[in-house]
Amino acid sequence: LPPPSSVLVIFGATGDLARRKLLPALYNLAHEGSLPERFQLIGVSRGELTDDGYRDEVRQAIERFSRRPPDATVLDALLENVFYVTGGFEEDDAYRGLAQRLGQLDAAAGQPLNRIFYLSTAPRFFGAIVGQIGGHGLARREGADTRVVIEKPFGTTETEALELNRRVLEVLHEEQVFRIDHYLGKETVQNLLALRFANGLFEPIWNRNHIASVQITAGEAVGLEGRAGYYDGAGALRDLVQNHLLQLLCILAMEPPTAFAADDIRGEKVKILRAIERIDRDQMHLHAVRGRYGAGAVGGDVVPAYVNEPDVPASSTTETFVALRLQVDTWRWAGVPFYIRTGKRLSRKLTEIAVTLQPVPHLAFHGGGTVEPNQIVFTIQPDEHVSIKLAAKVPGSGMHLRPVTMDFSYGTSFLSTSPEAYERLITDALRGDATLFTRADEVEAQWAVIQPILDAWAADASPPDEYAAGSDGPQSQQRILRDGDHWRAI
Ligand code: BG6
Repeated sequence: LPPPSSVLVIFGATGDLARRKLLPALYNLAHEGSLPERFQLIGVSRGELTDDGYRDEVRQAIERFSRRPPDATVLDALLENVFYVTGGFEEDDAYRGLAQRLGQLDAAAGQPLNRIFYLSTAPRFFGAIVGQIGGHGLARREGADTRVVIEKPFGTTETEALELNRRVLEVLHEEQVFRIDHYLGKETVQNLLALRFANGLFEPIWNRNHIASVQITAGEAVGLEGRAGYYDGAGALRDLVQNHLLQLLCILAMEPPTAFAADDIRGEKVKILRAIERIDRDQMHLHAVRGRYGAGAVGGDVVPAYVNEPDVPASSTTETFVALRLQVDTWRWAGVPFYIRTGKRLSRKLTEIAVTLQPVPHLAFHGGGTVEPNQIVFTIQPDEHVSIKLAAKVPGSGMHLRPVTMDFSYGTSFLSTSPEAYERLITDALRGDATLFTRADEVEAQWAVIQPILDAWAADASPPDEYAAGSDGPQSQQRILRDGDHWRAI
């Protein structure tokens, strides 16, 4: 069943995220018939544009960034329902204009339509926009639902995140708030839940008795992509670890939920976040490494050092690489290291979770060869698959052993391309399903893990450890490994 009739209001309607992700996702949903039967889009932004002017921008964005070439009939039908309101995000006029437009659309429909306000602006406006929505009486009304989708980053410190939650929850109920983490919209991330909780194979071994370590990697080959203004103030820990990688850790480590429903899933994730041990300042060097890329070559292209990138100040101490060793203090996970690693300008794009099992207690074979512990690797992207490393007998006389892998590949099993994360997340917001969005206490618990590391780094004047662009990160990442563990190649 398509989601109920709705008006989607995008603040930051002409911005990069809207053009690259949101508008193409809407087109693809339209193409599949997954949008509500009555669906209207209102773009809000400072630029002076008419409805037609904005429609042209929407068309261009879709033609350029959609994952499928647009079909003229579908695109025209979508564009007929696109409108534009000019205004600054902090100015009353914008909200008066918006309220008027929304009223007209309700009147034309002969019913109050659900309203989804999507905050795709610079994060400094999030609090003000929600305040204005409340101030102009747009936060709720009889007979239809109102929801607010908030993009990342949700605050830049723990204190800011707490303050933003306070401002948002002054105006809205938590059930109306949809905080985006686009990793949760990825098919492979949701499949991690399916694999863990719809198979008998994994759960019995999913604990400290059988699992030796967990390693979560998010390598990127890209550099700043013109985002120095944002990235230099953020750094890798805030940009990818605080949100996406802690979400992956939670999904891997959480207890089985009673239902695939928003509060069950999110409640379990919060328990994991709260169980992550806080790292003491004097132990920080044993648990956290920060790095920054120097000049090098990535995929054959020679690239400059981070500090020589356009718009990066020479005095910058921002990290472009992070490696952490975290500990989840629960009955299930005590003593199992959770390694997390991410970086820009690494050798290639690779997001994966590798679960290494304990070695077998006794090996009866004397035929030689290598026996390595079993490893289950969930490759989130780009080459989406799950593989299990096993020891097998090499054909021939004798008992010579060698590691082999058993693979499940999405491409060959399903023969279809996965939808973009934003397609799934927009549909869920239209339906009012918050399972794949972050709850207030969850985002606060994420910040509580990260803030002590940020504070320790801020108090330490030494620059991040250098690595060559195109490598797998700084040598110093070795220092946080437990004896016998090693980083996987990216
Ligand atoms: C974003 C970060 O949240 O995630 C970017 O701001 C990063 O710096 C991106 O490149 C990675 O997302 P994906 O979906 O390409 O893995």
